[in-house]
Amino acid sequence: MLVSAKEMLIKAKEGKYAVGQFNINNLEWTKAVLLTAQENNSPVILGVSEGAGKYMGGYKTVVAMTTAMIEELNITVPVALHLDHGSYEGALKVIEAGFSSVMFDGSHYSIEENIAKTKEIIKITEEKGLSIEAEVGSIGGEEDGVVGTGEIADPSECKLIADLGVTMLAAGIGNIHGQYPENWKGLDFTALAQIKELTGDMPLVLHGGTGIPEAMIKEAISLGVAKINVNTECQLTFAEATRKYIEAGKDLKGKGFDPRKLLAPGFQAIKDTVKEKMELFGSVNKA
Ligand code: 13P
Repeated sequence: MLVSAKEMLIKAKEGKYAVGQFNINNLEWTKAVLLTAQENNSPVILGVSEGAGKYMGGYKTVVAMTTAMIEELNITVPVALHLDHGSYEGALKVIEAGFSSVMFDGSHYSIEENIAKTKEIIKITEEKGLSIEAEVGSIGGEEDGVVGTGEIADPSECKLIADLGVTMLAAGIGNIHGQYPENWKGLDFTALAQIKELTGDMPLVLHGGTGIPEAMIKEAISLGVAKINVNTECQLTFAEATRKYIEAGKDLKGKGFDPRKLLAPGFQAIKDTVKEKMELFGSVNKA
């Protein structure tokens, strides 16, 4: 069964650790994340971008695959299925399809419009007992064709959105999606501390989890970050493991072309990456 992310995030904020959101792209990805969460007794959030949802055949397919897998693999740790960077229409669609959590990303609208649209989604998520993430201050970099310019969120705007009753809040603090450039200035902890001060118990979300140095991750958690999103790192390790397998060549002469064999090293690479992140975020044995 899928659960709202609310309870796991309240516990994480109180316990000073973060729950990982790992984005999924296909069956192997989903299975790798679910099994790793179970093996490490960790709560987990499966992130689905609108592009990934389309790729996997549609949101209903994602819900059916995930819920069936939870049952058949005997996954008992809390699992939330979450729309990542959803548009207004996308949020409505995943709610209809049976997701347990949504992100409505209104950061590219004016703050007034972001508030108005976030409020409308909150009405529905509250009624259905789902969790909702909102965003203030767009996250930089490129994800799934969506390019953000990256900005530091205004703490008073964060408070306005937090007070609407969202479950969690993503605030731009210099984090970007994808790889960080050489001249990256790092996370803005002064802004994060101000946001925490004004938003109180609100679990904060750190996007762009790939490539942030460990010490910064730990400091962010100490300042109220309770959810950290990771996507690119799983993609890179998956691609690298698959490349190595193909380059080894000999495996492709026998039965190595069998997709189950071809994708096995990538599957294991995702599992290793997810485990490493769960240990770093402190969510192991917190289910
Ligand atoms: P990365 O791809 O940089 O890990 O960021 C993932 C993310 O923030 C998804 O919303």
